[in-house]
Amino acid sequence: MQLTVEQIRFFHLNGFLSITTPVTDDAELAWMREVYDRMFAERAGRESGDQFDLAGSDEEGKEASLPQILNPAKYAPELTEGKYLGVIAEIAKQLFGPEAGAGIAHAIFKPAGMGAPTPWHQDEAYWDPSQQYQNASIWMPLQEASIENGCLWFMPGSHEWEVTEHRPIGGDVRVHGLEIVNLDLVKDAVACPLPAGGITIHRNRTAHYAGANTSSVPRRALILGTGLASHPYPGHRSFPWNEIKHTARDERAKAAAG
Ligand code: NI
Repeated sequence: MQLTVEQIRFFHLNGFLSITTPVTDDAELAWMREVYDRMFAERAGRESGDQFDLAGSDEEGKEASLPQILNPAKYAPELTEGKYLGVIAEIAKQLFGPEAGAGIAHAIFKPAGMGAPTPWHQDEAYWDPSQQYQNASIWMPLQEASIENGCLWFMPGSHEWEVTEHRPIGGDVRVHGLEIVNLDLVKDAVACPLPAGGITIHRNRTAHYAGANTSSVPRRALILGTGLASHPYPGHRSFPWNEIKHTARDERAKAAAG
């Protein structure tokens, strides 16, 4: 898939890009939905801390409001054989240069009628503050993504910000998910509805959000990563919002590691 000069310019200027042409066909999307639903139904990765509730306290026996699986290819390696990956890698090279590849990062599921919102955040706020990043996340819905079922929203130009202050959602240190503390920073947000198999791409500091799923269909999204390798961050910074977290997911990961 060949991006236009205008699309490439838009991405570098605004820090995000919406591509409404699907990166694969309906048959592959139907197969991906099957694999995806199976992983969540089997609670793949729960014990190792890879599956957890992004937006809740994640206690055992409590239904997750925003279930997430880290590294889903570990639990469904067949996902790495899809045609969509080659097309996405081709798009990534047009944005970051020939050395950029694309890999599956995680899956975020918003159950029908109850999937919680994903509050405004910058992805880099989750990561190691000792590194400097030049990368992007690629968000691919496996069915139509609309404002009603939780498509992504972006704040144009926010990729030029520093990482702003975040906190665990609702200030609850048991919650893995992060949110931007000062929402006055977020202005002129743009919603990006997509057809099944369309993608959005956003930079490591681009502020973004997804609404709750108020529709009657589940919202399945697969998230991939692309870009260039990280380098040591020049100077010192810390992300204290990650240091204060105490999540059930971390406990499970520690127990699984022995
Ligand atoms: Ni994000």
